[in-house]
Amino acid sequence: MREPADRYSSVAILLHWLIAGLLIGNIVIALTMDSAVLFQTHKSIGILVLLLTGVRLVWRLTHPWPALATSLGAWERMAARVTHFAFYVLLLVVPLLGWAAASTGRRGTGDLFGVIPWFDLPLGKSGELHDLTGEAHELAVYLTIALIVLHVAGALKHQFVDRDGTLRRMLPGR
Ligand code: HEM
Ligand code: HEM
Repeated sequence: MREPADRYSSVAILLHWLIAGLLIGNIVIALTMDSAVLFQTHKSIGILVLLLTGVRLVWRLTHPWPALATSLGAWERMAARVTHFAFYVLLLVVPLLGWAAASTGRRGTGDLFGVIPWFDLPLGKSGELHDLTGEAHELAVYLTIALIVLHVAGALKHQFVDRDGTLRRMLPGR
């Protein structure tokens, strides 16, 4: 089944904003966390992002993209495609690296929000691997933040400079 030709479907919109909110919230939590409870919340929200991205990917692959707005130039199409693809990769890589870092650390991943049973990736306990995946996790997050800045700048330019209705394609309602 195709998405409507000129806008995203309700499911795509819901997943876009849910994941965007959880992602930004988790970055804020990560940069300010100073307690075990907040750290557990960080890991749990991250796993939630991973699971939701799985759902989103399945949705994406079974419901192809709506066509990009016809008003876009060739370089804008290219920039949008590259950015969107990179987001999907990072939305998988960031939580997976975090999960690997947690799994190889002494404390392990722990239960989601302290109540939903969860498990470690079968990587064994290793200080070296913990440091490596932890560093890579942070690096991937910084790449994600740069991408968010680009993506939001693009959205705002289309909304307020081009006024071409690009943002409306990703908002609920008509
Ligand atoms: C939405 C996904 C995620 C984002 C945006 C994110 C972001 C971050 C950031 C910014 C830091 C650095 C904090 C600092 O040192 O100041 C961090 C650290 C960490 N995160 Fe995540 N994270 C995500 C998912 C996860 C998941 C799923 C796990 C584990 C299940 C996890 C485990 C960790 C661990 C263990 C550290 C500390 C790494 C170290 O030892 O240096 N993260 N995360
Ligand atoms: C912060 C995390 C965000 C991520 C990871 C993200 C990711 C994505 C991805 C992957 C797409 C491609 C469509 C899809 O596959 O669903 C998309 C489209 C879009 N995003 Fe975001 N987004 C984020 C935040 C935002 C914000 C804050 C805005 C608005 C200010 C925004 C506005 C849009 C718009 C307007 C589109 C549709 C572009 C088109 O016409 O094809 N996004 N986003």
